[in-house]
Amino acid sequence: MHFQEHYNLKELNTFGLAEEARFFINLEEESQLPELLKSEVYQNNPVLWLGGGSNLLLTRDFPGLVVKLNFKGKSVDIINDKEAIASAKAGENWHQFVQFCLKQNLGGLENLSLIPGNVGTAPIQNIGAYGVEIKDHFYRLRAFDLQEGIWCDFGPGDCDFGYRWSIFKGEHKGRYVISEVQFKLSRKDHFLRTSYGAIQAELERLGLQPTIQNIAEAVINIREAKLPNPAEIGNSGSFFKNPVVSEAEYDRLKMEFPDLVAYPAEQGYKLAAGWLIEKAGWKGFRRGDAGVHNKQALVLVNYGEAKGSEIKALSEEIQESIYSTFAVSLEAEVNII
Ligand code: EPU
Repeated sequence: MHFQEHYNLKELNTFGLAEEARFFINLEEESQLPELLKSEVYQNNPVLWLGGGSNLLLTRDFPGLVVKLNFKGKSVDIINDKEAIASAKAGENWHQFVQFCLKQNLGGLENLSLIPGNVGTAPIQNIGAYGVEIKDHFYRLRAFDLQEGIWCDFGPGDCDFGYRWSIFKGEHKGRYVISEVQFKLSRKDHFLRTSYGAIQAELERLGLQPTIQNIAEAVINIREAKLPNPAEIGNSGSFFKNPVVSEAEYDRLKMEFPDLVAYPAEQGYKLAAGWLIEKAGWKGFRRGDAGVHNKQALVLVNYGEAKGSEIKALSEEIQESIYSTFAVSLEAEVNII
């Protein structure tokens, strides 16, 4: 196995942070995993598994081994005239996989267009957007158990999916490496979800019928208008989760802030964290190269040379400010290393 040393990770994280890995390896084949586990470098160092690097804030050089998961391959299995299973290896880019499905007229993932990151990390935080989460179409995943050294399969019932949550963030954190994910998608009579956010309005503006391909186009337009492109401005999408509060808490906030933006959720109300952050005065804030995006306050950005530690410090200031203004705790969605 060939490990590189003092490897600059700038190109491998969407915040564009130039921290170094003490050791680095690009893993192209899942069959290399057992060999990797036997290596001295793996056994003697802390390990960071890297997918698309789109949910990661590096605040320092990583003192151990960074493994970039680069397994490639996409395929479709037809089940019957209504459904198919679409599979992708962990290192496939998420958006390209969604496009691959849409080209074959497979429906289900269109609302999740343009989410940065790779297929293999999508289940870890159950990525979601515009009224859809991957749990809604998840079929199965294959993962390598680092503790037992064996391959395992997980079905929907095994993953404990929730809002930006799965068992791979909880009980099984750090135990499995996901190598392949499969989704059950529709081949016809697609279930179209246009009611969320501005999708319907965008379709009308474009003069397009609601098809799965056109919904993807609308979602792409909406995201491009609001969210910074990581290729231009470093960022990691929503930095915080939208906090869920009890009905009593919601009532208290709504009395004090009648324009509060919130949605009924399973256990109370989900507050729009972007609204809270904007209301507290942070939208467009910039210190050095660390900032709060001027079109979506939930997104923290690196305008160029910010350090991860500066972005982290800014995120903590925002958390304190939101707590002192609204008595609401904001939890980071991004992994801070
Ligand atoms: N809002 C503001 N000011 C802002 C931003 C938002 O007032 O600066 C209010 C607006 O009223 C807006 C509402 O908040 O209507 C919701 O905003 P938006 O539709 O942009 O969605 P979000 O709740 O901020 C979530 C996901 C996004 C996903 C969008 C669309 C989380 C943490 N984020 O954001 O996911 O794209 O919904 O479905 O749940 C991500 O996880 O990285 C991500 C981008």
